[in-house]
Amino acid sequence: MADEAPIVHKGLDSVYVTESSICKVDGTEGKLYYRGYPIEEIAENSSYEEVAYLLIYGKLPKRNELDSFIAQLKAERDLPQGIIEMIASNAAKADPMDVLRTAVSSLSLYDNEAADSSKEANIRKTIRLISKMSSIVATIGRYRNGGGYVSPDAKLSHSENFLYMLNGAKPAPEQHKPVEMMFILQAEHSSNASTFSTLVTGSTLSDLYSAVTSGIGTLKGPLHGGADEEALRMMYTIGDPSNTENYINEALAGKKRIMGFGHRVYKTYDPRARVIKGYLLSLQSNSSEEVRRLTEIALRGEKLMIEKLGQSHGIWPNVDFFAGPVYVSAGIKVELFTPLFAASRISGWCAHMLEYWSDNKLIRPLEQYTGQIGLKYVPIDKR
Ligand code: ACO
Repeated sequence: MADEAPIVHKGLDSVYVTESSICKVDGTEGKLYYRGYPIEEIAENSSYEEVAYLLIYGKLPKRNELDSFIAQLKAERDLPQGIIEMIASNAAKADPMDVLRTAVSSLSLYDNEAADSSKEANIRKTIRLISKMSSIVATIGRYRNGGGYVSPDAKLSHSENFLYMLNGAKPAPEQHKPVEMMFILQAEHSSNASTFSTLVTGSTLSDLYSAVTSGIGTLKGPLHGGADEEALRMMYTIGDPSNTENYINEALAGKKRIMGFGHRVYKTYDPRARVIKGYLLSLQSNSSEEVRRLTEIALRGEKLMIEKLGQSHGIWPNVDFFAGPVYVSAGIKVELFTPLFAASRISGWCAHMLEYWSDNKLIRPLEQYTGQIGLKYVPIDKR
């Protein structure tokens, strides 16, 4: 009897690859939970440090636990001189995601515990990575702006220190608040492409730096983390709110994708996009002309896309759509959006890696071979 053709799940669409208690994405109801807590409550009440603790340890910390975790993060903020020099010589000309990926990969060269695969060492490396990735992204931005390395300030919170190392000045609340919000909202999102690629690498029992380097490379793509940059670039191309309808209609007619819309799991409004939009709207009277214009373009684009593709095709705004104007309000340049996403998502990547390693199984799917078999080898001068 001939073998039955296997069902191929292209893009692993709808395939469950593991069990996890870290994050629930309810794509039908548009709900997101970090360790059981609704994202809206977390965004309203928590700090990035607390979110990182929650993701890694599975529970909200008591005061002394959080204090100790924050102290460990602060102790890891500074960067090795070799990493600073690598950033200094590449930041101005290279893609910031390439510099970030290279820097994170190089961090292992400065870590005596890089090859120690004990759980304790992996938690210490997780803390190191959370802390240092934020410093790396700030330093990339700093050198792109023509500045030099700013040593971290232990008096500041994680996201305040990010802005301090980026700008060389303590951030005002209107800069700090949106960056903190984005750190929290982008920290985790179950089995997305970059988390999965982190797990694929780690499942071979490679090390945490290698696994996270895979995750960064995956996040870079415009179908995933890179969409926030593309969405803002589109808004700048639209230029004036009155051009929004024309632009989107033409793009859709030309079968182009509108970045910041659509999601593999959410077939309704992404709850993170709601939080970000809410913040953006709260800003309006106090924001710059540029942010108001971008917001107007975003709102018009959102309305049109929902009318055209929302209910009918399940294509709604995702986390990346309103992120651009919010970052602009905080003075963050577009090319740092995806690196910042990575600096936030590092806690989710590591939480998943730690969980997966507790019951590791090599990830090795199958593919349905459609080529020929049994061909006769032809010498090169006879082809
Ligand atoms: N604009 C226009 N059409 C879209 C969009 C969009 N943003 N997203 C999906 N579609 C259409 C596709 O063209 C396709 O149409 P077709 O069936 O006529 O060919 C259909 O919807 C299904 O799209 P797929 O790519 O097959 O669905 P998938 O689940 O693989 O897509 C994805 C998910 C990649 C996120 C997609 O919606 C997309 O490309 N969005 C734009 C990029 C983006 O914003 N990515 C960020 C996602 S959130 C994150 O990763 C942080």
